[in-house]
Amino acid sequence: MATLVFGGLGHVGSWISHDLAARGEDVVIFDLGAAGLDGLGLDYLEPYRDRLTFENVDVLDVHTLFERMRAYEGRIDAVIFGVAVIAGPNFAKRPFRHIQINTVGMLNVIEACRIFGVPKFINLSSGAVYGDQAGGQTEDLPVKVTDLYGATKASNEVLALQYGQTYGIDVRNARLYFVYGPGKLPSRMHVLYQAMFGPLEGPTEADSPKGGDQSLDWTHVRDTAAGVVALLDAPADVSGEAFNISSGVAVAHRDIVGHVADIVGHESKVTLGSGLFFERGAPLDISKARARLGFEPRFADIREGLRDYRAWLQGARPH
Ligand SMILES: NC(=O)c1ccc[n+]([C@@H]2O[C@H](COP(=O)([O-])OP(=O)(O)OC[C@H]3O[C@@H](n4cnc5c(N)ncnc54)[C@H](O)[C@@H]3O)[C@@H](O)[C@H]2O)c1
Repeated sequence: MATLVFGGLGHVGSWISHDLAARGEDVVIFDLGAAGLDGLGLDYLEPYRDRLTFENVDVLDVHTLFERMRAYEGRIDAVIFGVAVIAGPNFAKRPFRHIQINTVGMLNVIEACRIFGVPKFINLSSGAVYGDQAGGQTEDLPVKVTDLYGATKASNEVLALQYGQTYGIDVRNARLYFVYGPGKLPSRMHVLYQAMFGPLEGPTEADSPKGGDQSLDWTHVRDTAAGVVALLDAPADVSGEAFNISSGVAVAHRDIVGHVADIVGHESKVTLGSGLFFERGAPLDISKARARLGFEPRFADIREGLRDYRAWLQGARPH
């Protein structure tokens, strides 16, 4: 049996795939353009090549999706859905396309799960479902979205839960938040990410128009993945529930810039304009994940997470 990770070449999905393969499990990765690992820079997956199978599937191409899922019928005990266009300035530039990928894409996948009898579905959701509600958000707060991305994540949670209830699929929603760390090059991310994390990669000039007055709950990707795997492993009594998976700590963005300068040994030419970059509160309350999943973030002190990120960026991409 295997776990099927949609978006398994993405930032979070690749670390989930890593963690499952590292403990000896088989992982099937469905991702857009996936032909294998070569050239992707996901060096941490290299030792586990023999546990990984790749399928080049676009979740909006239902024919290929169903055809390839049929090939694994009876061999998948869980699907993790991690395909998305993530939050950021890019999302609203092509709203219809991006909503299709996030929401119609998930609908296509959970429909395939229904038809092929996949018993468990982990939906990678987001703290975006809380919108700009003040930090300390618990899972029982009503949903309040403040952008189109958040609308896709809230819709997906409701759709997935109703699929679960109607067709007997064990659905679990993982609410992730502001992921950083190995696997993602800051230079390929939005400008706030570049301004805060870019100097860890190499000499960086970045001017973020906003975000300087914000504190967010940035989560090291290894903690994110560990939380999702804990949710996957949890007994059936968590079925139908949502769990916040984050560091549980809000850090001021200007402090992150300062920590990064300390780590690289000099100030960089980065600026953060005043105001908020994302309409979100922080931190998420992770006490439910602690109590029910045994989740404990390793990188609750962001300085340790930044040092780990720096080590990967330097090792993988020396400057
Ligand atoms: N990164 C964050 O800060 C963050 C925060 C909260 C929630 N999340 C959620 O976690 C999940 C994973 O996010 P991530 O940061 O790993 O994103 P990512 O962009 O790194 O990975 C997404 C993956 O989906 C694949 N993909 C995109 N369109 C596709 C399509 N049409 N068909 C098949 N594959 C497609 C991409 O190739 C990529 O590998 C998403 O659901 C996201 O909404 C992420």
